[in-house]
This record gives sequence, C-alpha cells and structure tokens, in this order.
Amino acid sequence: MNAVIYICSSCDAQSSKWAGRCLECGAWGTLAEQTSDGKKKSDAKRIPASQTVPFAEIDHVKTPRIKTGMDEVDQVLGGGIVPGSFILLGGEPGIGKSTILAEIALKLENVLYCSGEESGEQIKLRLDRIIGAKGRIPPTLRYVGETVCEKVCATIQEKKPALAIVDSIQTIASNDVDSEAGSIGQVRACTVKLLQTAKECTVPIIITGHVTKEGAVAGPKTLEHLVDTVLYLEGDSNHYFRLLKTAKNRFGSTNEVGVFEMTESGLKEVNNPSAAFITDTMDNVPGTCTTVVMEGTRAFLVNVQALASKTYFGYPQRRAVGFDANRLQLLIAVLSKRLGLNLGDQDIHINVVGGLKISEPAADAAVTSCIISAYKGKLCDPKTIFLGEVGLSGEVRTPPGMDKRLREAEKLGFTTAYIPKQTKKILSSLKLIEMKSLRDLEI
Ligand code: TYD
Ligand code: MG
Repeated sequence: MNAVIYICSSCDAQSSKWAGRCLECGAWGTLAEQTSDGKKKSDAKRIPASQTVPFAEIDHVKTPRIKTGMDEVDQVLGGGIVPGSFILLGGEPGIGKSTILAEIALKLENVLYCSGEESGEQIKLRLDRIIGAKGRIPPTLRYVGETVCEKVCATIQEKKPALAIVDSIQTIASNDVDSEAGSIGQVRACTVKLLQTAKECTVPIIITGHVTKEGAVAGPKTLEHLVDTVLYLEGDSNHYFRLLKTAKNRFGSTNEVGVFEMTESGLKEVNNPSAAFITDTMDNVPGTCTTVVMEGTRAFLVNVQALASKTYFGYPQRRAVGFDANRLQLLIAVLSKRLGLNLGDQDIHINVVGGLKISEPAADAAVTSCIISAYKGKLCDPKTIFLGEVGLSGEVRTPPGMDKRLREAEKLGFTTAYIPKQTKKILSSLKLIEMKSLRDLEI
C-alpha cells in the first residue's frame, strides 16, 4: 500500500495530514503530497558483499588543479579547482559573487556560464566592465540562460566545458519537484542533479547561493554536506573590502582567506591586506588604537575606534559596528567594575575601520584600550598594538598565533606591543609590555 505523506517545500518537514499552514516553519500553502511507495525492504541476505581494498594498496594520486589565474582564489581553494569538484559560493545579495565568477570565467578557457537570474546582455556588460576597453572576451566563454535544471545538466554533459558556473542555485528548478524555484526541496534536488553531472563528466561546477539576512544561506546551508567545497564571500556592502573564506574544503585547508577590493572594474586582489585596514591620518584623536586579528592563517592590522559621550537621556547607548555588541557590554562592565571607570553615564560607540567584522576575543584588549582612551581623552600611541582576550576579572589572556601577529606589526613599522603576560620569552624587535590584567595598561 502506498502511504501518503505531506512535505513542506520551505522547511522540508513531513506530516501525515494536510494543513494549510506548515506546523514547523509556519509557511502557508507549502505542504505538498508525496507518495512513499511501500516496497518491501530488500532482503539483506541475498545481496552479495562489496569488495574491500587495503588502503596501503591504493595508489596516491596527486589531484591536478585548474588554476583560476587569481592567486587569492587559488590559495583559498587549496591550489586551484579540482576537476569534477562541486563548489558552492555563498554570500549576501550584491556582495560580488557574480563579479568574482565573471573574473574567473574571463581568465580560463572554455567556460560555460549558466545564469537563471541575468540575461546574456547583463552579464556581457559586467564582463566588459571587468575587462576594460582594451580587453577581449575569450571566444570559448559561452552563456546559457536556462532555469530548468535538467537542461542545464544536459548542456554541461554535451559541451563538456573546462568549468561550468551556475548563477544562482535558487533560480533553477527541476521538473521532478513540484515546489517553486528557491524552495529547499528544489535547491536540494537541483544540487544533487548538478553534483551527479559534475562527477559523471568530471566537469568542475561552481554554484552560487544567496545568504539571507539572518545568516542562513536560503537553501545552501542545507547543501553544505552535499558539496565538496563551500566558499563564502563576506564584507560590508558599503565598504570596498571583501573576504573570501572557506567553510568546508575536501581538497584543502579551511584556514585560507582571500582578500579583495571592489573597484570600478571588478574585484581586485589586495596584496598587502594588513596595510589596507589601517589609516595613519588619525594620530591626534583619542579613542583610536590598533590590533592584529587573524582570519584563518593570515594576520591583519586593524584600527578600532571608540567614542564616549555623555548620556543626556535614558539608558546609556552601547553600539558597535564590526564588533559583537554583547561582547562590548561585557567589556564595559569589566572596565566599570575592575578599573572603576564611571561609564554608567556615557554613550559608547565602537567602530572597526574598513568594514571588517572582528569575531576574535584577541581584539578585547584593543577595544578596552580605545574605550579608556576615549573616556579619558588621552591619546593611544599610534605605533602601539594591543593584543589579548579580556576575562571577567580583568585578566588578559594570550590569543593563538602571537608570533605571527607580532611579526605583522613589525613589518608595518609598529614599535610597541601590549601583550598578555607570557610564560615563555617571545623574540620580537617590538618593545613588549606584558600585562597581567587591564590595570597594567598605561593610558
Ligand atoms: P554582483 O557581483 O552582481 O553581486 P552578487 O552576484 O553577489 O549579487 O555585484 C555586486 C555589486 O558590485 C554591484 O552592486 C555592483 C558592484 N560592482 C562594482 O562596484 N564594480 C564592478 O566592476 C562590478 C562588476 C560590480
Ligand atoms: Mg549575482
């Protein structure tokens, strides 16, 4: 007997009865009927066992890589694109996913660019913008405007391009699934079909997926386990810098980060990211200091700014751009309690320069230092960096990668570093000021 179940096309929840509204996610009109045919489970005894192979006898093959011609992208991918691999590029709308893919497409031969959201003319405009007046679009770069997943797969199978780009997974739909394009069921079904195509004809495929405001990739979050590599393009769309990060990579490390700058003519690699995020024009304003944050294996110098102003009405405001607001509350509480700073009647604003988002506790010492500096109206030395994670009793702890951070600061001409108390001696040409707690800060 065939059992009938109802599956929600937006969250994939199953239910035995039809309802106008999904009980799991609350979406209206998304439950669709599906029949699970009641075939008897195959008899395990009659199935022959599979062959096993000792690992020692499996030859080591060095996977060849297709170089994209953009060093930062190659590095993030672990040395280039592996043939037959399936890559998901996620990011907020407008962050530059299509731009970075267009640049890769221009650098390679025989690329198939499939788009369900933009016309050939629109993409051509973008290509022209990137390549400039003198450039030439490779004659082997082809466009297919298609939204039916099966047709996209058939085209890839027939044309066998060196790389296929599908922009975006939310705009294509499979005939086998009833729900509309962009629903979880569709996104998953299309990904599985494209994945099979990639593996069958060893054509690498890059798909893009939009991340919603809440941070979940609309669909693609549920795809992470299916694909070989997950890349995220991040950044503040009001700023120029973009970071390309790996959340998963079957063919390389997830510690690599690529840094790009959005320019008039596409995304350009930033060769010296450390210098990009610091400015030297703010020497005479209290409330600015510098720290070194790590993104994967790379260290960047970053300016953090604070503003403390008297509260005139209601509760004091605590606002942060590029820094976690809860962490800021905690650090202010530590400063009030442990250093006796009277911040109860001060509005405090924190800003991380360059649109970078700091999620590392290593920046705590810098954030507290610039709050102290802003509150007291005293300058922080512009050639000093502040490193350390601050605890509730005001103690300062050592973040990982100290050597790398200090070396980066040395390279950019810094002279002094406030660091947590060390048990081992650190070799550095910087003047190191060790601090046990925030009380040791001399601002
Ligand atoms: P886009 O790559 O279309 O974003 P996504 O595919 O992630 O939605 O473009 C992002 C933004 O970048 C767009 O608002 C225009 C801007 N842009 C530039 O500033 N310079 C350029 O050379 C290009 C191509 C786009
Ligand atoms: Mg796009």
